[in-house]
Amino acid sequence: MSHTLHPLRRQRLQRSELAVPSSNPTMIEKAAESAADYVFLDLEDAVAPPEKEQARKNCIQALNDIDWAAKGKTVSVRINGLDTHYMYRDVVDVMEQAGDKLHTILVPKVGVPADLYMVEAMVNQIEMARGYRSKVMLEALIETALGMANVEAIAQSATLPGSRLEAMHFGVADFAASMRARTVNIGGLNPDYPGDQWHAAIARMTTACRAYGLRAIDGPFGDFSDPEGYKAGARRAAALGCEGKWAIHPSQVDLANEVFSPTEAEVTKARRIIAELKAAEAAGKGAASLDGKMIDAASERMAKNVLVIAEAIAA
Ligand code: GLV
Ligand code: MG
Repeated sequence: MSHTLHPLRRQRLQRSELAVPSSNPTMIEKAAESAADYVFLDLEDAVAPPEKEQARKNCIQALNDIDWAAKGKTVSVRINGLDTHYMYRDVVDVMEQAGDKLHTILVPKVGVPADLYMVEAMVNQIEMARGYRSKVMLEALIETALGMANVEAIAQSATLPGSRLEAMHFGVADFAASMRARTVNIGGLNPDYPGDQWHAAIARMTTACRAYGLRAIDGPFGDFSDPEGYKAGARRAAALGCEGKWAIHPSQVDLANEVFSPTEAEVTKARRIIAELKAAEAAGKGAASLDGKMIDAASERMAKNVLVIAEAIAA
């Protein structure tokens, strides 16, 4: 390993993240009862401009009325972008009126590290002024060409003193718009492209996340009547190192939980790898073989990643 190491900043189970428009209190209540690990109450793109103020009020009420943690959920709020006139009031009202109830703020369309710095400065002041003991963390939505061009710098800003960044998400819909990419449905594959046209972007963001100890989360898949397409996208993201995916419809929650949970067989294999390597070590050997395949210290690190998630699910 390098002498420079950035361990995971914060372990949270985030296999499924259900997006809910804060303009719809019924959907918020249903989300609280869902099987999602995470729920984000949206103030941004799922809320039309005339509904923004009411949505903010609903969001604050839902944070205060529902005990999200008792329901086993991490609760996040997606504020409006820094280029809008809604964003400052989102942060001020939500933090002042419910800042000790939410866990993270999801900042959309992050383009440069200073976008997060600004939100952090506001959150800091409000937490101090209110005397909150809890600390709201940040998640960055990478969904513009600028954000992707700066994704390493944005991830690296997590190492600065005072940074609250703990995860980054890939927002494929806005990314497609920003890139002027031809797209068929949100997050779906374009048959004109040989393979997955989002591969390079997700791989780049995930690498930046893992380099600086952040969780990597894949964003939306728009066609909620295509569970197989959803699962295929989730599996591709998981193969690259993402640990969860958004659900833009309740029916996608179970699909995400399924794809991002290690199977019994994977957990058993992970335990066998660790046991086998322990035995090899006791016999003075670094490598060993399991089921006809070579395993070594890197296999142990991979196996431990599986067990961390399995233990978080069991907890
Ligand atoms: C999410 O916000 C996206 O644009 O995909
Ligand atoms: Mg977006």
